[in-house]
Amino acid sequence: MARSQHYILLAVAVAAMTLALLASPVAAEKSFNITKILAAHPEFSKFNAMLSKTRLAYDINRRQTITVLAVDNAAMAGLDQYSLPTVRHILSLHVLVDYYGAKKLRGLSNGATASASMFQATGAAGGMSGYVNITSHKGGKIDFVSQDADDTTTPSRYVKSIKELPYDIAVLQISSVLSSSEAEAPVPPPAPVDLVELLSKKYCKSFAELVAGNADVFQALNETKDNGLTLFCPVDAAVAAFAPKYKNLTAKAKTAILLYHAVPDYFSVQLLKSNNGMVSTLATTSYVKKDYSFDVKNDDEDVTLATKVVTSTITATVGDSEPLAVYAVSKFLQPKELFKVVQAPTPAPEPSKKKGKTGDADDESSSDDSDDSTADKGAAAPAVFGRWATVAATVGAALALLA
Ligand SMILES: *[C@@H]1O[C@H](CO)[C@@H](O)[C@H](O)[C@H]1NC(C)=O
Ligand SMILES: *[C@@H]1O[C@H](CO)[C@@H](O)[C@H](O)[C@H]1NC(C)=O
Ligand SMILES: *[C@@H]1O[C@H](CO)[C@@H](O)[C@H](O)[C@H]1NC(C)=O
Ligand SMILES: *[C@@H]1O[C@H](CO)[C@@H](O)[C@H](O)[C@H]1NC(C)=O
Repeated sequence: MARSQHYILLAVAVAAMTLALLASPVAAEKSFNITKILAAHPEFSKFNAMLSKTRLAYDINRRQTITVLAVDNAAMAGLDQYSLPTVRHILSLHVLVDYYGAKKLRGLSNGATASASMFQATGAAGGMSGYVNITSHKGGKIDFVSQDADDTTTPSRYVKSIKELPYDIAVLQISSVLSSSEAEAPVPPPAPVDLVELLSKKYCKSFAELVAGNADVFQALNETKDNGLTLFCPVDAAVAAFAPKYKNLTAKAKTAILLYHAVPDYFSVQLLKSNNGMVSTLATTSYVKKDYSFDVKNDDEDVTLATKVVTSTITATVGDSEPLAVYAVSKFLQPKELFKVVQAPTPAPEPSKKKGKTGDADDESSSDDSDDSTADKGAAAPAVFGRWATVAATVGAALALLA
Protein backbone atom coordinates (compact mmCIF):
# COMPACT_ATOMS: atom_id res chain seq x y z
CA MET A 1 0.00 0.00 0.00
CA ALA A 2 1.32 3.45 -0.89
CA ARG A 3 1.64 6.04 1.83
CA SER A 4 -0.95 8.29 0.21
CA GLN A 5 -3.38 5.43 0.28
CA HIS A 6 -2.80 5.13 4.01
CA TYR A 7 -3.70 8.75 4.50
CA ILE A 8 -6.81 8.40 2.40
CA LEU A 9 -7.82 5.32 4.33
CA LEU A 10 -7.13 7.08 7.61
CA ALA A 11 -9.12 10.13 6.57
CA VAL A 12 -12.03 7.97 5.47
CA ALA A 13 -11.83 6.03 8.72
CA VAL A 14 -11.82 9.18 10.83
CA ALA A 15 -14.74 10.62 8.87
CA ALA A 16 -16.66 7.37 9.10
CA MET A 17 -15.98 7.07 12.82
CA THR A 18 -17.08 10.66 13.41
CA LEU A 19 -20.28 10.03 11.52
CA ALA A 20 -20.81 6.78 13.39
CA LEU A 21 -20.41 8.58 16.69
CA LEU A 22 -22.88 11.25 15.61
CA ALA A 23 -25.29 8.60 14.43
CA SER A 24 -25.24 6.57 17.63
CA PRO A 25 -27.65 8.06 20.15
CA VAL A 26 -26.61 8.44 23.76
CA ALA A 27 -27.82 5.32 25.46
CA ALA A 28 -30.67 6.20 27.75
CA GLU A 29 -30.04 4.90 31.24
CA LYS A 30 -32.66 2.43 32.33
CA SER A 31 -34.17 4.47 35.07
CA PHE A 32 -37.01 2.47 36.54
CA ASN A 33 -38.57 -0.93 37.03
CA ILE A 34 -42.31 -0.80 37.74
CA THR A 35 -42.28 -4.26 39.32
CA LYS A 36 -39.67 -3.14 41.80
CA ILE A 37 -41.41 0.16 42.54
CA LEU A 38 -44.70 -1.55 43.34
CA ALA A 39 -43.06 -4.42 45.24
CA ALA A 40 -42.41 -1.94 48.05
CA HIS A 41 -46.18 -1.51 48.45
CA PRO A 42 -47.94 -4.80 49.26
CA GLU A 43 -51.40 -3.23 48.95
CA PHE A 44 -50.75 -3.16 45.18
CA SER A 45 -49.45 -6.71 44.90
CA LYS A 46 -52.38 -7.88 42.74
CA PHE A 47 -52.03 -4.96 40.36
CA ASN A 48 -48.29 -5.58 40.24
CA ALA A 49 -48.71 -9.30 39.60
CA MET A 50 -51.12 -8.57 36.76
CA LEU A 51 -48.72 -6.11 35.16
CA SER A 52 -46.20 -8.94 34.98
CA LYS A 53 -48.67 -11.59 33.90
CA THR A 54 -49.99 -9.45 31.04
CA ARG A 55 -46.40 -8.43 30.13
CA LEU A 56 -47.38 -4.80 30.57
CA ALA A 57 -44.56 -4.37 33.09
CA TYR A 58 -42.15 -5.04 30.26
CA ASP A 59 -43.81 -2.45 28.04
CA ILE A 60 -43.91 0.09 30.88
CA ASN A 61 -40.21 -0.30 31.61
CA ARG A 62 -39.37 0.36 28.00
CA ARG A 63 -41.26 3.65 28.01
CA GLN A 64 -40.16 7.06 28.98
CA THR A 65 -42.47 9.76 30.35
CA ILE A 66 -45.41 7.77 31.60
CA THR A 67 -47.92 7.64 34.42
CA VAL A 68 -49.21 4.41 35.93
CA LEU A 69 -52.61 4.54 37.63
CA ALA A 70 -52.56 1.73 40.18
CA VAL A 71 -55.45 0.34 42.16
CA ASP A 72 -55.19 -1.54 45.44
CA ASN A 73 -55.87 -5.24 45.95
CA ALA A 74 -59.51 -4.70 46.91
CA ALA A 75 -60.23 -2.72 43.75
CA MET A 76 -58.51 -5.38 41.60
CA ALA A 77 -61.26 -7.90 42.45
CA GLY A 78 -63.37 -6.28 39.72
CA LEU A 79 -61.05 -7.76 37.09
CA ASP A 80 -61.45 -11.41 38.09
CA GLN A 81 -64.20 -11.97 35.54
CA TYR A 82 -62.02 -11.08 32.55
CA SER A 83 -59.63 -13.17 30.47
CA LEU A 84 -55.95 -12.29 30.53
CA PRO A 85 -55.91 -10.54 27.12
CA THR A 86 -58.89 -8.42 28.24
CA VAL A 87 -57.18 -7.61 31.53
CA ARG A 88 -54.19 -6.51 29.48
CA HIS A 89 -56.40 -4.09 27.53
CA ILE A 90 -58.02 -2.76 30.69
CA LEU A 91 -54.74 -2.27 32.53
CA SER A 92 -53.08 -0.69 29.50
CA LEU A 93 -55.73 2.03 29.84
CA HIS A 94 -54.14 2.69 33.24
CA VAL A 95 -50.80 3.56 31.70
CA LEU A 96 -50.85 7.15 30.46
CA VAL A 97 -48.21 8.01 27.92
CA ASP A 98 -47.37 11.32 29.57
CA TYR A 99 -46.03 12.36 32.96
CA TYR A 100 -48.56 13.46 35.56
CA GLY A 101 -46.98 14.00 38.95
CA ALA A 102 -49.25 15.19 41.76
CA LYS A 103 -48.04 18.75 41.25
CA LYS A 104 -48.86 18.72 37.54
CA LEU A 105 -52.32 17.29 38.23
CA ARG A 106 -53.09 20.09 40.69
CA GLY A 107 -51.90 22.70 38.23
CA LEU A 108 -53.87 21.56 35.17
CA SER A 109 -54.84 24.60 33.12
CA ASN A 110 -58.64 24.90 32.95
CA GLY A 111 -58.72 22.07 35.46
CA ALA A 112 -58.96 19.34 32.84
CA THR A 113 -57.01 17.45 30.22
CA ALA A 114 -57.16 14.26 28.22
CA SER A 115 -54.25 11.85 28.00
CA ALA A 116 -53.60 9.03 25.59
CA SER A 117 -53.01 5.68 27.25
CA MET A 118 -51.03 2.66 26.23
CA PHE A 119 -54.35 1.06 25.23
CA GLN A 120 -54.69 3.78 22.62
CA ALA A 121 -51.05 3.45 21.59
CA THR A 122 -51.31 -0.28 20.85
CA GLY A 123 -53.99 0.36 18.27
CA ALA A 124 -56.37 -2.12 19.93
CA ALA A 125 -58.68 0.74 20.88
CA GLY A 126 -61.03 2.31 18.39
CA GLY A 127 -61.99 6.00 18.26
CA MET A 128 -61.30 7.92 21.45
CA SER A 129 -61.61 4.95 23.76
CA GLY A 130 -57.92 4.82 24.58
CA TYR A 131 -57.98 8.29 26.11
CA VAL A 132 -58.44 9.18 29.75
CA ASN A 133 -60.03 12.45 30.89
CA ILE A 134 -58.44 13.99 33.94
CA THR A 135 -60.42 16.65 35.81
CA SER A 136 -59.12 18.63 38.74
CA HIS A 137 -62.02 19.92 40.85
CA LYS A 138 -62.12 22.81 43.26
CA GLY A 139 -61.13 21.59 46.69
CA GLY A 140 -58.36 19.37 45.35
CA LYS A 141 -60.30 16.32 44.18
CA ILE A 142 -59.03 14.85 40.92
CA ASP A 143 -61.04 12.46 38.75
CA PHE A 144 -60.00 10.03 36.04
CA VAL A 145 -62.50 8.66 33.54
CA SER A 146 -62.12 6.80 30.28
CA GLN A 147 -63.24 8.98 27.42
CA ASP A 148 -65.64 6.33 26.14
CA ALA A 149 -67.33 5.95 29.53
CA ASP A 150 -71.05 6.76 29.60
CA ASP A 151 -72.68 9.39 31.81
CA THR A 152 -73.56 6.92 34.53
CA THR A 153 -69.93 5.93 35.13
CA THR A 154 -68.49 6.96 38.46
CA PRO A 155 -65.05 8.41 37.82
CA SER A 156 -62.02 6.97 39.57
CA ARG A 157 -60.64 9.34 42.15
CA TYR A 158 -57.01 10.22 42.73
CA VAL A 159 -55.94 8.82 46.10
CA LYS A 160 -52.23 9.43 46.43
CA SER A 161 -48.89 9.53 44.71
CA ILE A 162 -46.97 6.29 45.17
CA LYS A 163 -43.73 7.17 43.41
CA GLU A 164 -42.55 9.99 41.18
CA LEU A 165 -39.36 10.10 39.16
CA PRO A 166 -39.79 13.34 37.20
CA TYR A 167 -40.24 13.20 34.26
CA ASP A 168 -39.80 9.50 33.63
CA ILE A 169 -42.56 7.84 35.60
CA ALA A 170 -45.29 8.76 38.06
CA VAL A 171 -47.13 5.98 39.85
CA LEU A 172 -50.42 7.17 41.32
CA GLN A 173 -53.14 5.37 43.21
CA ILE A 174 -56.69 5.80 41.96
CA SER A 175 -59.77 4.56 43.81
CA SER A 176 -61.13 2.07 41.25
CA VAL A 177 -60.41 0.38 37.96
CA LEU A 178 -61.19 2.66 34.99
CA SER A 179 -64.28 1.49 33.18
CA SER A 180 -64.26 1.29 29.38
CA SER A 181 -66.57 -0.83 27.27
CA GLU A 182 -63.96 -1.04 24.53
CA ALA A 183 -61.19 -2.22 26.86
CA GLU A 184 -63.54 -4.66 28.60
CA ALA A 185 -64.71 -6.22 25.34
CA PRO A 186 -63.77 -9.89 24.97
CA VAL A 187 -60.55 -10.29 23.02
CA PRO A 188 -61.02 -12.99 20.40
CA PRO A 189 -58.56 -15.86 20.81
CA PRO A 190 -55.71 -15.67 18.33
CA ALA A 191 -56.25 -17.72 15.20
CA PRO A 192 -54.12 -20.85 15.21
CA VAL A 193 -50.85 -20.13 13.45
CA ASP A 194 -48.41 -22.59 11.98
CA LEU A 195 -45.17 -20.74 12.63
CA VAL A 196 -43.01 -22.67 10.23
CA GLU A 197 -45.56 -22.29 7.48
CA LEU A 198 -45.84 -18.55 8.16
CA LEU A 199 -42.06 -18.15 8.06
CA SER A 200 -41.79 -20.22 4.89
CA LYS A 201 -44.31 -18.13 3.01
CA LYS A 202 -42.05 -15.20 2.18
CA TYR A 203 -38.43 -14.18 2.53
CA CYS A 204 -37.55 -16.55 5.39
CA LYS A 205 -37.67 -20.11 4.04
CA SER A 206 -34.16 -20.91 5.23
CA PHE A 207 -34.77 -19.55 8.71
CA ALA A 208 -37.99 -21.59 8.85
CA GLU A 209 -35.92 -24.69 8.16
CA LEU A 210 -33.52 -23.85 10.99
CA VAL A 211 -36.45 -23.38 13.38
CA ALA A 212 -38.22 -26.53 12.22
CA GLY A 213 -35.00 -28.49 12.65
CA ASN A 214 -34.45 -27.46 16.27
CA ALA A 215 -37.04 -28.96 18.63
CA ASP A 216 -36.09 -26.74 21.59
CA VAL A 217 -36.38 -23.59 19.55
CA PHE A 218 -39.61 -24.63 17.90
CA GLN A 219 -41.17 -25.47 21.24
CA ALA A 220 -40.09 -22.20 22.86
CA LEU A 221 -41.51 -20.18 19.95
CA ASN A 222 -44.69 -22.21 19.72
CA GLU A 223 -45.31 -21.82 23.45
CA THR A 224 -44.78 -18.06 23.32
CA LYS A 225 -46.63 -17.15 20.14
CA ASP A 226 -50.09 -16.85 21.71
CA ASN A 227 -48.89 -14.64 24.55
CA GLY A 228 -47.00 -12.05 22.58
CA LEU A 229 -44.11 -12.80 20.28
CA THR A 230 -42.17 -10.76 17.77
CA LEU A 231 -39.92 -12.75 15.51
CA PHE A 232 -37.20 -11.16 13.39
CA CYS A 233 -36.39 -13.63 10.64
CA PRO A 234 -33.26 -13.11 8.55
CA VAL A 235 -34.01 -13.23 4.83
CA ASP A 236 -32.75 -16.24 2.90
CA ALA A 237 -29.69 -14.39 1.60
CA ALA A 238 -28.74 -13.44 5.17
CA VAL A 239 -29.03 -17.03 6.35
CA ALA A 240 -26.88 -18.16 3.43
CA ALA A 241 -24.24 -15.53 4.21
CA PHE A 242 -24.16 -16.57 7.84
CA ALA A 243 -24.22 -20.33 7.19
CA PRO A 244 -20.43 -20.92 7.51
CA LYS A 245 -20.38 -19.31 10.93
CA TYR A 246 -23.61 -20.97 11.98
CA LYS A 247 -22.18 -24.39 11.18
CA ASN A 248 -19.25 -23.64 13.48
CA LEU A 249 -21.45 -22.99 16.51
CA THR A 250 -22.06 -25.58 19.21
CA ALA A 251 -25.57 -27.03 19.47
CA LYS A 252 -26.26 -24.85 22.52
CA ALA A 253 -25.08 -21.72 20.74
CA LYS A 254 -27.24 -22.59 17.73
CA THR A 255 -30.28 -22.75 19.98
CA ALA A 256 -29.31 -19.47 21.62
CA ILE A 257 -28.79 -17.63 18.37
CA LEU A 258 -32.12 -18.78 16.94
CA LEU A 259 -33.93 -17.74 20.13
CA TYR A 260 -32.05 -14.45 19.95
CA HIS A 261 -34.30 -13.59 16.99
CA ALA A 262 -37.44 -13.85 19.13
CA VAL A 263 -38.71 -11.18 21.52
CA PRO A 264 -41.35 -12.42 23.96
CA ASP A 265 -43.73 -9.55 23.36
CA TYR A 266 -45.87 -8.28 20.54
CA PHE A 267 -44.60 -5.23 18.68
CA SER A 268 -46.63 -3.66 15.92
CA VAL A 269 -44.76 -1.69 13.27
CA GLN A 270 -46.02 1.56 14.83
CA LEU A 271 -44.67 0.51 18.20
CA LEU A 272 -41.28 -0.36 16.73
CA LYS A 273 -41.14 2.96 14.93
CA SER A 274 -42.09 5.01 17.96
CA ASN A 275 -40.23 3.15 20.63
CA ASN A 276 -36.47 2.86 20.84
CA GLY A 277 -34.57 0.84 23.35
CA MET A 278 -33.09 -2.44 24.43
CA VAL A 279 -35.22 -5.54 24.15
CA SER A 280 -34.66 -8.88 25.83
CA THR A 281 -35.00 -11.98 23.71
CA LEU A 282 -36.11 -15.53 24.30
CA ALA A 283 -32.43 -16.47 24.49
CA THR A 284 -32.25 -14.39 27.67
CA THR A 285 -35.08 -16.23 29.34
CA SER A 286 -34.73 -19.70 27.87
CA TYR A 287 -31.06 -20.27 27.49
CA VAL A 288 -28.52 -18.82 29.88
CA LYS A 289 -28.08 -16.03 32.38
CA LYS A 290 -26.35 -13.77 29.89
CA ASP A 291 -27.96 -10.70 28.46
CA TYR A 292 -28.81 -11.63 24.86
CA SER A 293 -30.53 -8.33 24.16
CA PHE A 294 -30.30 -5.88 21.27
CA ASP A 295 -31.14 -2.29 20.62
CA VAL A 296 -34.15 -1.31 18.53
CA LYS A 297 -33.53 2.02 16.84
CA ASN A 298 -35.35 3.97 14.22
CA ASP A 299 -34.11 6.29 11.64
CA ASP A 300 -36.94 7.94 9.70
CA GLU A 301 -38.88 5.06 8.23
CA ASP A 302 -36.29 2.39 8.95
CA VAL A 303 -36.22 0.25 12.05
CA THR A 304 -32.82 -1.26 12.83
CA LEU A 305 -31.72 -3.86 15.34
CA ALA A 306 -28.24 -3.23 16.70
CA THR A 307 -26.42 -6.01 18.53
CA LYS A 308 -23.00 -4.32 18.81
CA VAL A 309 -21.75 -6.97 16.39
CA VAL A 310 -24.09 -6.35 13.51
CA THR A 311 -26.86 -3.93 12.60
CA SER A 312 -29.81 -5.47 10.82
CA THR A 313 -32.67 -3.61 9.19
CA ILE A 314 -36.31 -4.63 9.02
CA THR A 315 -37.10 -5.05 5.34
CA ALA A 316 -40.66 -6.41 5.34
CA THR A 317 -43.56 -7.57 7.42
CA VAL A 318 -44.10 -11.30 7.05
CA GLY A 319 -47.09 -11.44 9.36
CA ASP A 320 -48.62 -9.04 11.87
CA SER A 321 -51.63 -10.02 13.89
CA GLU A 322 -51.61 -9.41 17.63
CA PRO A 323 -50.21 -11.23 19.61
CA LEU A 324 -47.74 -12.39 16.91
CA ALA A 325 -45.61 -10.30 14.58
CA VAL A 326 -42.96 -11.56 12.16
CA TYR A 327 -40.59 -9.20 10.38
CA ALA A 328 -37.97 -10.03 7.78
CA VAL A 329 -34.54 -8.54 8.57
CA SER A 330 -31.55 -7.94 6.34
CA LYS A 331 -28.86 -9.69 8.41
CA PHE A 332 -28.53 -12.60 10.78
CA LEU A 333 -28.47 -11.20 14.31
CA GLN A 334 -25.23 -11.99 16.10
CA PRO A 335 -25.25 -11.51 19.88
CA LYS A 336 -22.19 -10.02 21.55
CA GLU A 337 -22.31 -13.03 23.84
CA LEU A 338 -21.18 -15.22 20.91
CA PHE A 339 -19.31 -12.92 18.54
CA LYS A 340 -16.69 -10.27 18.73
CA VAL A 341 -18.03 -6.78 19.16
CA VAL A 342 -17.35 -4.46 16.26
CA GLN A 343 -16.25 -1.24 17.80
CA ALA A 344 -14.46 1.90 16.70
CA PRO A 345 -11.07 2.08 18.49
CA THR A 346 -10.71 4.87 21.04
CA PRO A 347 -8.39 7.60 19.79
CA ALA A 348 -6.85 8.38 23.20
CA PRO A 349 -5.18 5.70 25.36
CA GLU A 350 -8.18 5.44 27.63
CA PRO A 351 -9.03 1.76 27.86
CA SER A 352 -12.01 1.89 30.20
CA LYS A 353 -14.97 3.90 28.99
CA LYS A 354 -17.76 1.82 30.33
CA LYS A 355 -20.74 4.06 30.56
CA GLY A 356 -23.49 2.37 28.58
CA LYS A 357 -26.07 0.28 30.31
CA THR A 358 -25.23 -2.93 28.51
CA GLY A 359 -21.93 -4.64 29.02
CA ASP A 360 -19.51 -3.28 26.49
CA ALA A 361 -16.85 -4.71 24.28
CA ASP A 362 -15.05 -6.70 26.94
CA ASP A 363 -18.04 -8.96 27.34
CA GLU A 364 -17.60 -11.20 24.34
CA SER A 365 -16.60 -14.75 24.98
CA SER A 366 -15.63 -17.11 22.21
CA SER A 367 -14.95 -16.75 18.51
CA ASP A 368 -12.55 -13.97 17.77
CA ASP A 369 -12.67 -14.04 14.01
CA SER A 370 -13.29 -10.57 12.68
CA ASP A 371 -16.94 -10.74 11.98
CA ASP A 372 -19.41 -9.25 9.60
CA SER A 373 -19.38 -9.46 5.87
CA THR A 374 -18.96 -5.70 5.66
CA ALA A 375 -15.45 -6.01 7.07
CA ASP A 376 -14.36 -8.25 4.22
CA LYS A 377 -13.46 -5.28 2.04
CA GLY A 378 -10.25 -4.60 3.89
CA ALA A 379 -9.76 -7.55 6.17
CA ALA A 380 -8.01 -9.67 3.56
CA ALA A 381 -4.78 -7.67 3.92
CA PRO A 382 -1.69 -9.70 4.86
CA ALA A 383 -0.59 -9.78 8.49
CA VAL A 384 2.07 -7.11 8.06
CA PHE A 385 -0.68 -4.65 7.24
CA GLY A 386 -2.67 -5.75 10.24
CA ARG A 387 -3.12 -2.27 11.57
CA TRP A 388 -4.43 -1.03 8.28
CA ALA A 389 -6.67 -4.00 7.97
CA THR A 390 -8.08 -2.99 11.35
CA VAL A 391 -8.68 0.52 10.12
CA ALA A 392 -10.33 -0.81 6.98
CA ALA A 393 -12.48 -3.12 9.08
CA THR A 394 -13.42 -0.12 11.18
CA VAL A 395 -14.48 1.73 8.08
CA GLY A 396 -16.54 -1.26 7.09
CA ALA A 397 -18.08 -1.40 10.52
CA ALA A 398 -18.73 2.32 10.62
CA LEU A 399 -20.30 2.20 7.18
CA ALA A 400 -22.41 -0.73 8.30
CA LEU A 401 -23.64 1.41 11.18
CA LEU A 402 -24.59 4.13 8.77
CA ALA A 403 -26.11 1.86 6.15
C1 LIG B 1 -37.57 -5.65 38.05
O1 LIG B 1 -37.70 -5.92 39.42
C2 LIG B 1 -38.14 -7.25 39.72
C3 LIG B 1 -38.40 -7.32 41.21
O2 LIG B 1 -37.40 -6.71 41.95
C4 LIG B 1 -37.09 -8.23 39.23
O3 LIG B 1 -37.51 -9.55 39.50
C5 LIG B 1 -36.91 -8.04 37.74
O4 LIG B 1 -35.88 -8.88 37.27
C6 LIG B 1 -36.57 -6.61 37.42
N1 LIG B 1 -36.58 -6.44 35.98
C7 LIG B 1 -35.59 -5.88 35.33
C8 LIG B 1 -35.75 -5.77 33.85
O5 LIG B 1 -34.59 -5.47 35.88
C1 LIG C 1 -63.86 13.79 28.14
O1 LIG C 1 -63.48 15.09 27.72
C2 LIG C 1 -64.01 15.44 26.46
C3 LIG C 1 -63.41 16.79 26.09
O2 LIG C 1 -63.33 17.64 27.18
C4 LIG C 1 -65.54 15.46 26.53
O3 LIG C 1 -66.05 15.79 25.27
C5 LIG C 1 -66.02 14.09 26.96
O4 LIG C 1 -67.42 14.11 27.12
C6 LIG C 1 -65.36 13.66 28.24
N1 LIG C 1 -65.75 12.30 28.50
C7 LIG C 1 -66.14 11.88 29.70
C8 LIG C 1 -66.54 10.46 29.81
O5 LIG C 1 -66.17 12.63 30.66
C1 LIG D 1 -48.06 -25.47 19.21
O1 LIG D 1 -48.85 -24.82 20.18
C2 LIG D 1 -50.23 -25.06 20.06
C3 LIG D 1 -50.93 -24.21 21.08
O2 LIG D 1 -50.79 -22.88 20.73
C4 LIG D 1 -50.51 -26.54 20.27
O3 LIG D 1 -51.89 -26.79 20.11
C5 LIG D 1 -49.72 -27.34 19.25
O4 LIG D 1 -49.87 -28.70 19.51
C6 LIG D 1 -48.24 -26.97 19.30
N1 LIG D 1 -47.60 -27.61 18.18
C7 LIG D 1 -46.61 -28.47 18.36
C8 LIG D 1 -46.12 -29.11 17.11
O5 LIG D 1 -46.11 -28.69 19.45
C1 LIG E 1 -14.81 -22.36 11.84
O1 LIG E 1 -13.94 -22.90 12.80
C2 LIG E 1 -12.66 -23.25 12.29
C3 LIG E 1 -11.89 -23.94 13.37
O2 LIG E 1 -11.94 -23.21 14.57
C4 LIG E 1 -11.98 -21.99 11.78
O3 LIG E 1 -10.74 -22.30 11.22
C5 LIG E 1 -12.85 -21.34 10.72
O4 LIG E 1 -12.28 -20.11 10.33
C6 LIG E 1 -14.23 -21.07 11.26
N1 LIG E 1 -15.06 -20.60 10.19
C7 LIG E 1 -15.84 -19.54 10.31
C8 LIG E 1 -16.60 -19.12 9.12
O5 LIG E 1 -15.95 -18.91 11.35
